[in-house]
Amino acid sequence: MSAAGELKTMTPPDVAARKGGAPLVCLTAYTTPMARLVDRHCDIVLIGDSVGMVLHGLPSTLGVTLDMMILHGKAVRRGLERALMVVDMPFGAYEEGPEQAFRSAARLMAETGCAAVKLEGGENMAATIRFVCARGVPVMAHVGLTPQAVNKFGGYRVQGRGEDADKTRRDAAAVAEAGAFAVVLEKVPEPLARRITGEIGIPTIGIGASPACDGQILVTDDMLGLFTSFRPKFVKRYAELGEQAEAAIAAYARDVRERRFPAVEHVFGEAGRDIDAGGVKGGEAA
Ligand code: KIV
Repeated sequence: MSAAGELKTMTPPDVAARKGGAPLVCLTAYTTPMARLVDRHCDIVLIGDSVGMVLHGLPSTLGVTLDMMILHGKAVRRGLERALMVVDMPFGAYEEGPEQAFRSAARLMAETGCAAVKLEGGENMAATIRFVCARGVPVMAHVGLTPQAVNKFGGYRVQGRGEDADKTRRDAAAVAEAGAFAVVLEKVPEPLARRITGEIGIPTIGIGASPACDGQILVTDDMLGLFTSFRPKFVKRYAELGEQAEAAIAAYARDVRERRFPAVEHVFGEAGRDIDAGGVKGGEAA
């Protein structure tokens, strides 16, 4: 809250200033109702390209388009007041070079109202990050396991093991040096994530990384048990809403088949009375 009592919206500099401070709480959202639920509890709400797998049933994030991110970004914008809104740049929207990245980021910011974008990559994306940051686009970077590179990695394996650790450290240092205000570290060994967090000057946001990171992020549908196609080791389930939803749907189906729903309290007029006898008076009133 500000001195005047209004809600202060988190900004990229606010996030950067949390380096080494109170842990940053981050979750994903793809819709207005979910954005409303997570907003007051989170510092950052990410419209992740995980939306492709979680909501659209795609086999990976590779089929997600800029238009999909804009549609979900607009929906989330309507549900946020406090958290910093970050939208993922989808595969194919930024890799050609800095100019393409700027065009895509500018569309995301102008059409969704987000304050920052996220893109995947380390040393290979440093020039792009530098270019777009210099033109008013705050960037959250993403290194370690970068799901858009699933085919290059040959799967969703832990990254930065053994000799690859130095490459992951260089990636994190490069995006920090290029001007990113924070960096997601996904699926890297815990000691490596801790070491990187101590080495770079911007907040690290861990997912399958380390409690020592400056913040944590999870896919909300994963932690609520709503997305059940697979369950990564790094996900802690805080609820089993998928199971609860299925039980509720089964109960509804039973009630309809056995004519227990709708009941008297769900209908209008005098239930069961012949309409010619004046049972229905009209309007919302019973
Ligand atoms: O797409 C996404 O939701 C993400 C987070 C898991 C970091 O990139």
